[in-house]
Amino acid sequence: MTNTLVLGGTGKSGRRVAARLRELGRSVRIGSRSGASRFDWDDDATWPGALAGVDSAYISYYPDISFPGAADRVGAFARAAVNHGVQRMVLLSGRGEPDAEPAEAAVREAGAEWTVLRSAWFMQNFSEHFLLGPVLDGVIALPAGDVTEPFLDLDDLAEVAVATLTRDEHTSATFELTGPRLLSFADAAAELSRATGREVSYVAVTPEQYAAGAVAAGIPVEEVTPLTELIVRVLDGHNAHLTGDVERVLGPRARDFTDYASAAAATGVWAR
Ligand SMILES: NC(=O)c1ccc[n+]([C@@H]2O[C@H](COP(=O)([O-])OP(=O)(O)OC[C@H]3O[C@@H](n4cnc5c(N)ncnc54)[C@H](OP(=O)(O)O)[C@@H]3O)[C@@H](O)[C@H]2O)c1
Repeated sequence: MTNTLVLGGTGKSGRRVAARLRELGRSVRIGSRSGASRFDWDDDATWPGALAGVDSAYISYYPDISFPGAADRVGAFARAAVNHGVQRMVLLSGRGEPDAEPAEAAVREAGAEWTVLRSAWFMQNFSEHFLLGPVLDGVIALPAGDVTEPFLDLDDLAEVAVATLTRDEHTSATFELTGPRLLSFADAAAELSRATGREVSYVAVTPEQYAAGAVAAGIPVEEVTPLTELIVRVLDGHNAHLTGDVERVLGPRARDFTDYASAAAATGVWAR
């Protein structure tokens, strides 16, 4: 299998997956609205061109695998992919997210080899996503109480994705990918304070307070309610344990938050 379509290939996980596949000498096609081969989740007419000549696919759905409509779109794509000859699909999903399960089932049932990667919260949410602004402002406000979460480094996720795309022993498997350590958001804020040299604090807020802040911060209004509900559901304590699945696939210990924070600080992302 040498020709892989990477959906969301310009995004946080996809560009890491694409880079690693290229390092292995694999042929990669970036599937996104700005990719060389235009792919739009909302325009099925763009799918055949993106799928032509492809034999495997990494699927990261946008905006979120747990949002309403995701299972319909991901399922339609998976079936189209099989019709175009795709033999293996790896789906990025969310850990402990019941609303993601219909999309996972659609990929499993499409007729190709499959692997589902249920990821914990990305560490890179603090540097490349919706928590970058709060870190720069010095206050991370979330409806998460004092729950702990095993944040995952996207470089580990990408390595697992590439292993499952390129090796035969990981098909028909659902992995729950966690980092090596449970941290509360107050712990994460303390790590970020050390890495940035500036005070970053965590404030537990209610879901209503979070939603109001998200609207004020410019998160698209239609995404605020599902995002708030998702955060509350994922961070209710049921995900507060480690699985060891990263180590099961990659062998060595997963990357730690302290190393992530110092590497991200060195890029200058928080030096504003
Ligand atoms: N954040 C977390 O902690 C977390 C944890 C577990 C799972 N997840 C899952 O991760 C997935 C997102 O993956 P990611 O964070 O790697 O992606 P991302 O960084 O959010 O990047 C979005 C990608 O999707 C593309 N895109 C945006 N709109 C599109 C459209 N209409 N059609 C086609 N492509 C589109 C973008 O490229 P263009 O702009 O060029 O189109 C970009 O490549 C979600 O499904 C989420 O549920 C996230």
